Amino acid sequence: MTAPASLRAPAAVPHVLERCHALVRPALAEAVDRLHPWMREMAAYSFGWCEVGGAPSSSSGGKGVRQALAVLGAEAVGGPGPAGVPAAVAVELVHTFSLLHDDIMDGDPARRRRPAVWKAYGTGPAVLAGDALFALAVETLAAASAGPQAVRVLSAALRDLVRGQADDLLFAERPWTGPRQVRPEEYRLMAEHKTGALLGCATALGALLAGAPPTTAHALDRAGRQLGVAFQIVDDMLGIWGDPEVSGKPVHADLREGKKTLPVLAALASPAPETRRLALLLERADAPEETAALIDALGGRSTALAQARRHLAAAETALGDLPLEPGPVDALHALLDFLVRRDL
Ligand code: IPE
Ligand code: IPE
Ligand code: MG
Ligand code: MG
Repeated sequence: MTAPASLRAPAAVPHVLERCHALVRPALAEAVDRLHPWMREMAAYSFGWCEVGGAPSSSSGGKGVRQALAVLGAEAVGGPGPAGVPAAVAVELVHTFSLLHDDIMDGDPARRRRPAVWKAYGTGPAVLAGDALFALAVETLAAASAGPQAVRVLSAALRDLVRGQADDLLFAERPWTGPRQVRPEEYRLMAEHKTGALLGCATALGALLAGAPPTTAHALDRAGRQLGVAFQIVDDMLGIWGDPEVSGKPVHADLREGKKTLPVLAALASPAPETRRLALLLERADAPEETAALIDALGGRSTALAQARRHLAAAETALGDLPLEPGPVDALHALLDFLVRRDL
C-alpha cells in the first residue's frame, strides 16, 4: 500500500534541472541585461537574482522546467545542449511573463516564496515587465538559427496559452453544478492550452534549433502537451493540499477564486450525496479546510492523481515512439517523473 502523501519524502530534484540551469543562466542574464533598468530589476527579482531595490539575492527562483525541456529537446535529437539555449532562454522568458500577468489575473499575492511582482512593484509596472520579457523572448529566438520558423512555433504556442488562460478565467464564472458546469474534457483542453502549449513548445524548439525535422519537433510538442496536462493537474492539487513553503504559492487561492480545477470537478462527479454539501461549500468559498477535506473524501484527489499519471504515461509513450538519443531521453523521463510526483 502506498504511504500517505504527507509521510513520503518529496521527490529529489533531478540533476538535469541543475545542469540546464547552469547552461542557460549566462544567456538569460545577458538577455535580461538589455532591458530598461526598471524592467531588468523586476525580471531579476522574478528569477530570484535580486531583492526589491536591486540588492543581490540567492532566492531559488523557478524550477526551470521549460529551459530544461528545451536543452533536452536539442540533446534528444542528437544535437549539443548549447544549441537549445536560445530556445531555453525564450521559453523561460515567456513563462515568467505569463506568471507576472497570471498573478495579476488571479489576484495571487505570492510567487516563488516571495511577494508576487505586482505586490512588490505595483500592477502597472508588473504588466509592463511582462511585456518586456515577452518582447525579449521573441528577439532572442528571432536571432537564433531557424529563427523565423522558431518564432512561428513560439507564436502559435502563445496563442494557445492565451486561449487556455481565457478559458480558465471564463470557467471561474461558470456554476459548479447544472447544465453549464465545466466538463472534464473542457478542463483538459484548457490545461493543455494554458500549460501544455509552452511545455510542448520548449521541447520542440530545442529540437528545431538542433536541426531536427519539423515532424520530430511536432511529435515532441505533442508529448510536451500531455506532460503539461499532468503538470497542471499536479499544480491544481498543490493549490488545495500543498505546502506554501514548498510550492512558494498560496494554498486554497483556487478555491476562493472559483477555479475549476480537476480535483474539484472529479469530486463533484462522485455519485455520493455529499456532493451537494461540497457544491454549497464551494459556492460560499469561506471554509477551505473543510472543502479540501470533502474533495479528498469524495475521491477528487485520487482521481486527479490517476489522471495526471495517465497523461504522464501518454507523454512517455509518445517519446518512446520517436527515434531519440537514449541518454537525453532517460533524463527526460527522470524530469517527467519528478514533475508529476513533486511533493504529492
Ligand atoms: C507554474 O509553473 C505555472 C503553471 C503552468 C502550473 P512552474 O511550477 O513551472 O513555475 P516555476 O517556474 O517553477 O515557478
Ligand atoms: C498558470 O496557471 C498558467 C499560466 C501562467 C499560463 P495557474 O494560474 O493555474 O498557475 P499558478 O498556480 O498560478 O502557478
Ligand atoms: Mg495563477
Ligand atoms: Mg491562472
